[in-house]
Amino acid sequence: MAIVVTGATGTIGRALIRELGGAALAVVRRAEQGADLGCEHVVGDLERPESIPIEPGDRLFLNSSIWPGFVRAHQAVIDRAAARGAAQVVTVSVRGVTSAGLLGFGMHGQVDDHLKASGVPWSILAPVGFMQNLAGDVDEEGRIFGAYGRGRVGYIDARDIAAVAAALLTRPVGDSATYELTGPDAPTHDEIAAELTRSLGRPVRYVDLSAEEGAAHFEKRGMPAQAARDLARLMAQIGDGRWAGTTTTVADVLGRPPRSLREFLAQAP
Ligand SMILES: NC(=O)c1ccc[n+]([C@@H]2O[C@H](COP(=O)([O-])OP(=O)(O)OC[C@H]3O[C@@H](n4cnc5c(N)ncnc54)[C@H](OP(=O)(O)O)[C@@H]3O)[C@@H](O)[C@H]2O)c1
Repeated sequence: MAIVVTGATGTIGRALIRELGGAALAVVRRAEQGADLGCEHVVGDLERPESIPIEPGDRLFLNSSIWPGFVRAHQAVIDRAAARGAAQVVTVSVRGVTSAGLLGFGMHGQVDDHLKASGVPWSILAPVGFMQNLAGDVDEEGRIFGAYGRGRVGYIDARDIAAVAAALLTRPVGDSATYELTGPDAPTHDEIAAELTRSLGRPVRYVDLSAEEGAAHFEKRGMPAQAARDLARLMAQIGDGRWAGTTTTVADVLGRPPRSLREFLAQAP
């Protein structure tokens, strides 16, 4: 029985394949992408569900970045997994989604609803924001922009998400469940800027914007107007506390705590 890994070239996918010691069948969009993955690979695309190799009893890690056809494609792959007799689908969503939510929150909400109704045993990983994004958000002048106010976010290292996925994909299939995944603590963005200052060795400060200012800022940086508005509103919603609480799920599943932001930054290349 194979463990089929989609999104294999992504942040979580690569870490998952490492966790699995190469015991995975990776799906890549172009053959040359498979060369450095360290596991078997096939060419496939979530937009072509029939290209995703699923045999009866296989376990599927379903993950990708988001694009306009994301919901339709992921739902079709879930249907294929059900029709082919997959033993389990483990997927990556977002903590606190609803099908009517903004941007990825809404898209993931629709896919999650479809998966829960599919009849295939499922595990939904529902993380908050990834620590991997944070350093890249710092501009040349050492600023991070957001509309989170003093809201706390329990950022998680994506490698911990991969480790949880690996555990769920290799132990006997358990009850279908959603796993809300966070790091060990939930700093404010001012506190995050202080940690980045410490690790990058240059001053970093968080610039807090209202939702309206945020929309204008992201639009000025090239984002389409509607997406910029939605992103700023989403940040303000997150600032209201929806990602503020931490969970013990990583430790419960793995038997070790998730990495802290300080540990993550100390290990970053
Ligand atoms: N970043 C965050 O803070 C955050 C927080 C919560 C949840 N999430 C969720 O995490 C997921 C992204 O995970 P990630 O960061 O590991 O991904 P990532 O690094 O952005 O990589 C995306 C992967 O998806 C693949 N992909 C994109 N379109 C595809 C398609 N049509 N068919 C097959 N593969 C496709 C890409 O392949 P190519 O190499 O061919 O492009 C790549 O392997 C998203 O669902 C996102 O909503 C992210």
